[in-house]
Amino acid sequence: MQTQLRIAVQKSGRLSDDSIQLIRECGIKFYNGAGKLKTEATNFPAELLFLRDDDIPRYVEDGVADIGIIGENVFVETQSQADLVKRLGFSKCRLSLALPKAVDYQGVQQFDGMRIATSYPNLLNKYFAGKGIKADIHEISGSVEIAPSIGLADAVCDIVSSGSTLLSNGLKEVETIFESEAVMIARKELGPLKEAILKKLLFRIESVQKAKG
Ligand code: PRP
Ligand code: MG
Ligand code: ZN
Repeated sequence: MQTQLRIAVQKSGRLSDDSIQLIRECGIKFYNGAGKLKTEATNFPAELLFLRDDDIPRYVEDGVADIGIIGENVFVETQSQADLVKRLGFSKCRLSLALPKAVDYQGVQQFDGMRIATSYPNLLNKYFAGKGIKADIHEISGSVEIAPSIGLADAVCDIVSSGSTLLSNGLKEVETIFESEAVMIARKELGPLKEAILKKLLFRIESVQKAKG
C-alpha cells in the first residue's frame, strides 16, 4: 500500500469546519460521512482522523497521527513534544481570566488567594508565577464558566472567542493571558516518504494563504 500521511483534525467544535475547509481548499478530496472517524483522501496520499481536539497533541506525539490541526492553546497547555510546523491564522481566540460581573476589578493581584476554575492549569500557573501570584487552581475539563455561579470557584480562566459564553454566565473578561490561533503540528522524525507528503501539503497551504492575502 502507498504511504499515507495521517492528519488529525477536530471532530466537532470551533476548529473543525475551518480545518476541513483548509484541507479541501488544498484540493484534497475526501468523503466524511456522519459519525465516521477515519476517512481516506481520494486524490492525495492522506488519511483523516476526526478526534477530540484535546487528544490531538498526544496522538501526534505518540505517532498515532503524523500531523494535526489544533488550537495553539491546547498545544502549549499539553506541553506536547510535537513540532509546530505552521501557523494557520484561523480560529483565533484568547485565554482570559474572568470574574463575576458584580465584582469590582482592581488589578491582577486581586487573584492572589482566589479559587480559579480552568482547563488550562499549566498556562495559568506560568502566568501567575511570572506575577508572584498564588492562587488555588481547580482543573475542570469543561463547562468552566458555570463554576462561579455554583460556588465552585471565585473566578475562571477559559477560552474566549466571541465572548458570548462569558456573557450568558454573568462573567466579565478582565485579563488576557494567552493569544491563540490554529496551528499545524507534526510528529518528530516522520521519515522521508511522509516528509515529502507533508512538504507538498505545506506548499499547497501556503498557496491558499497567499491567494487570500
Ligand atoms: C471555548 C470555551 C467556551 C467557548 C467560548 O470552548 O470553553 O465554551 O469556547 O467561546 P465564545 O467566547 O465564542 O462564547 P472550546 O471551543 O475551546 O471547546 P472545548 O472546551 O469543548 O474544547
Ligand atoms: Mg477543548
Ligand atoms: Zn482548592
